[in-house]
Amino acid sequence: MTGKLVKLSKEKRMEQYSENILQSVASGVLTLNQKRLITTINTAAATILNFHPTAVLGRSYTVVFGKNQKIASLLKGVLHDGNEAIRQECEIERADGKIVCLGMSTTSLRDQQNKIIGAALVFTDLTDMKRLRDQVELSKRLTTMGEMSAWIAHEFRNYMGTILGLSRLLSKNINPDHPGQAMIKTINQELSSMDRLITEILSYAKMTAVQRVPVSLDTLIADLMEQFIAAGAYPHVRWSSSFAEGLKVSADPLLMQQAISNIIQNALEAMQGEGTIHIHAMARSEEMVEIKISDSGPGISKDHLDKIFLPFFTTKEKGTGLGLPLVQKIIVSHGGRVSVESMEGTGTTFTLYLPS
Ligand SMILES: Nc1ncnc2c1ncn2[C@@H]1O[C@H](COP(=O)(O)OP(=O)(O)O)[C@@H](O)[C@H]1O
Ligand SMILES: [Mg+2]
Repeated sequence: MTGKLVKLSKEKRMEQYSENILQSVASGVLTLNQKRLITTINTAAATILNFHPTAVLGRSYTVVFGKNQKIASLLKGVLHDGNEAIRQECEIERADGKIVCLGMSTTSLRDQQNKIIGAALVFTDLTDMKRLRDQVELSKRLTTMGEMSAWIAHEFRNYMGTILGLSRLLSKNINPDHPGQAMIKTINQELSSMDRLITEILSYAKMTAVQRVPVSLDTLIADLMEQFIAAGAYPHVRWSSSFAEGLKVSADPLLMQQAISNIIQNALEAMQGEGTIHIHAMARSEEMVEIKISDSGPGISKDHLDKIFLPFFTTKEKGTGLGLPLVQKIIVSHGGRVSVESMEGTGTTFTLYLPS
């Protein structure tokens, strides 16, 4: 009798002990049963996922992770086939709207007969690290681009100067109505296109200092839309917008304008003059603002989707392929990120996430 009591309290002590360990580890730990209901959640997991533990115990994992395909497939793997995963990156949208990047490992939980009865998910919050990694990668790319472009600007502009000088001289030396004048005009036009390209390369590669001030997004976007409409290049395009009133971000207004303009310009070019552009801005969470720019254009093929942010990737005859890399550079240097969703034949949406 006494022995049994001692044994029980020992078990209790062990339970308490593992509970203490579980609660004090820095990684998030969450366990689920076969029905994918949450059976344990430690303090770190609750903090990362921004839930109170008692609010989620016994509820479906989708309450904390949302309808996330990657997590759904990791769970299917571990609960059905016992396939455990290590350090998988999963991006989830929390209930408060914050996008969080998790580094996740899964382990199967088994009973004494070795039957799978649940799964443990162990995860850490990689959001800040990922942002830092993106910034380091971008600045590496920019340094190489910067060196290369300084060289291009210098060398090419010298040659271009000579060509331009000679073509002007030629133009003076031949009759004004000589057929050669038209060719000289074309040479000069091509030279200005080349000069524009060089200017764009330099503006992408130059590390601009971000001058942050509080910016009212509704005014900034409304002004931009008006400028595009007033320019009148695409009179048949329909514009619409929806903003949360008084929405502000701490940003460089000129750079923000440039980023949003580049996306709008691409949308206009893709739609070839017919269709709708919708701009939507709202607070995603207390720290995050979201701007969506959607068009009803032809969309971007899956093949192209992961290349559009690479410098010089273009599908346009006169494109530079620097518009979107510049957008990305601007948004990342504000501590934000850009994502794109596109359906062929339906349209494209670019989303900018910015810290407010
Ligand atoms: N809204 C859009 N709809 C369809 N394709 C797009 C859209 N935005 C960008 N793209 C694709 O991405 C490519 C890269 O865009 P960008 O970097 O601005 O360079 P450029 O406009 O000079 O081609 C474009 O050539 C186009 O193929
Ligand atoms: Mg462009």
